[in-house]
Amino acid sequence: MSRVSKLFTAVAAAATLACAAVVPTQAAPAAIDANSNSISVFYYSLNDLFINQLSAALQDRALANGIKLRQYDANDDLMRQISQIQSALVINKDGAPILVNPVDTQNGVAALRAARQNKVPIVFFNRKPSDEALSSYEDAWYVGSNPANSGYYQAEIVMDYFKAHPEADRNKDGVISYVMLKGEPSHQDTSLRSNTFVRTLLEDGVKLKPIASVNANWSQNRAQNEISTLADRGQLEQIELIVSNNDAMALGAINALQAEGYNIPNTPAGDHSKYIPVVGIDALPQALDAVERGTMIGTVLNDYTAVADVMMRITEAYLNGEQITDEVLGYTTHEHIIDVPYVKVTNENISEVR
Ligand code: GAL
Repeated sequence: MSRVSKLFTAVAAAATLACAAVVPTQAAPAAIDANSNSISVFYYSLNDLFINQLSAALQDRALANGIKLRQYDANDDLMRQISQIQSALVINKDGAPILVNPVDTQNGVAALRAARQNKVPIVFFNRKPSDEALSSYEDAWYVGSNPANSGYYQAEIVMDYFKAHPEADRNKDGVISYVMLKGEPSHQDTSLRSNTFVRTLLEDGVKLKPIASVNANWSQNRAQNEISTLADRGQLEQIELIVSNNDAMALGAINALQAEGYNIPNTPAGDHSKYIPVVGIDALPQALDAVERGTMIGTVLNDYTAVADVMMRITEAYLNGEQITDEVLGYTTHEHIIDVPYVKVTNENISEVR
């Protein structure tokens, strides 16, 4: 038995004995009414700006259809999430699906096992358990996007930008000197986004020189600190591009740049004396503002509204005892995986995304 499974079994036993001390961090009903269509949703961390946005979309979508959400925030704590899921399963008498954004992949497997034991459907989102784990339970689903595609779109944004602005190659050496801000090392999005970005540019004949590549773990503050450190070392002048695995880190980078007089809103196009192109992923509202103000060259919509919608469609189908078909979901499913497409966002199409 793996460490996580042992942990899970121990927590399960404790939770059953203690009769489930549920500790939701957001508004939870005082008592659970089995007839009230309430659904439990588990987030790895609501401090994550993107997850927060997704949770708002999910709440809106649920509310619109008369479904109550009990939201649990694990605050990036594996143990806490396991205990939250176990406690919720104990009181989930009507077999309503649970929605899980696992703290890590292993945790996802433990959650899946518990859901299966309790005959409760489980819908994973944002962090994908392995295909093998997913296919081990017929009522397990994953709703997310294919991370490689977002790295590809970032590469397109960067190529278009450097074609339109050759002066962005400040030292005119024909090589883009870049900093990469990465998510958590173990996250599927980190490696697939980063690698696809680099590979796409190289395949297109673009020469790249990494100045720094750091894991800022999706965090705006950590990214801001990383770029401030490079600024303190006098390295900003060498940097011709900052590519970030998400918008939160891109926004942190922009804060650090602005503290040094770089990337001031509405810097005239073509003036790269104090301007470093920054590109992110997610299309957070703050990032869309940054694209509009020109402090960021683009982002990629990580379609949280569509993800929330598909999750609720699956949930509603289970609650109503209906078949889950591609027609019901509005997407083609493959092995219970629903791939919600990313959308490339620049100033040219931003109004369509708003
Ligand atoms: C990614 C998203 C990041 C972060 C991460 C958490 O899809 O782009 O901003 O939220 O998920 O799992």
